[in-house]
Amino acid sequence: MRISDMPVAARLKDLGVEVRPGVSLAEKTSLGIGGTTDQLLLYRYDTIPEAMRLLATEQIPHHFLGGGTNLLIADGELPYVVLHLPPVHPGVRIEGTIAHVHASADLGGTVTFCAKNDLGGMEGLIGVPGSVGGALRMNAGAYGTQIGSYVREVELYRAASGEIETLRGNDIRFDYRHTSFAPDDVMLRVKLELPSKPYNDILAGIRVCNEKRRASQPLNQKSAGCIFKNPPGGSAGRMIDELRLKGHRAGGAMVSDRHANFFINVERASCSDMLRLIDDVRERVHGAYGIVLENEVIVWRN
Ligand code: EPU
Repeated sequence: MRISDMPVAARLKDLGVEVRPGVSLAEKTSLGIGGTTDQLLLYRYDTIPEAMRLLATEQIPHHFLGGGTNLLIADGELPYVVLHLPPVHPGVRIEGTIAHVHASADLGGTVTFCAKNDLGGMEGLIGVPGSVGGALRMNAGAYGTQIGSYVREVELYRAASGEIETLRGNDIRFDYRHTSFAPDDVMLRVKLELPSKPYNDILAGIRVCNEKRRASQPLNQKSAGCIFKNPPGGSAGRMIDELRLKGHRAGGAMVSDRHANFFINVERASCSDMLRLIDDVRERVHGAYGIVLENEVIVWRN
């Protein structure tokens, strides 16, 4: 969707929003799949409510793009603009055992920054790609750690009220890859309370997690991490592997031969290649195990 020549673009600019025309979202996602649209960079959090009101008044559909690491986007010219919080460096400030973190900060960088300040707990999250905001929204987790356990406060834009609000950690539900945030809530800042731990101990934990991940996941290929959530008590990866689907393809999309719940863009895969592969694998798992796997990857269809 192109808005850069519309009068609304000038009004957004007055609110500190930068409009970048014709951005390829394939370059903004870890899967390397996605069409083209205008990207709006929101530099000033205090003007977000006003900018959102403007988009609503002008009836401009939009999606919020975080780190793009758990996302499958349709191809071609997209019928919406994407909003993005530009990264702030370092994006983390430490005060005692509290880390004040911007949602746009890189998750791995945040774990490392906290470690250097002798704050641990998040070692398991070290290799999870993406932003802190995305991790919060999904309650990202790995190797026994979930980010939700450390959340004391979240500042967010709530589409329901049209205002910036602050929620206490206790008032947010963090479940397995699911939270009580509304789909259109926009994470802005978070306060994490972390256990004090000597840097060297944290580093040792980080190394173990990195090693496990390198041994079992296709880290240097274009993927969105795990495609499906694990069903209660089960493992999507193991089931897909048992069905001998590693290497199974739809067009340029392929089930990883390293970890069967990672689907890889091996050869200029289109969004429909990836969706066909997802549906095909879901049906086969359903046929064999009677379980309907739920997507973990977020899909933006047109
Ligand atoms: N397995 C296989 N074949 C495979 C993959 C896995 O047999 O191709 C078996 C493993 O041997 C193991 C079991 O399945 O016995 C579980 O595998 P793994 O330890 O790799 O964990 P997972 O359940 O597949 C989850 C998360 C990952 C996270 C790892 C490590 C989900 C959907 N996935 O994977 O998160 O990194 O644990 O904690 O919960 C993600 O969310 O995108 C993600 C990658």
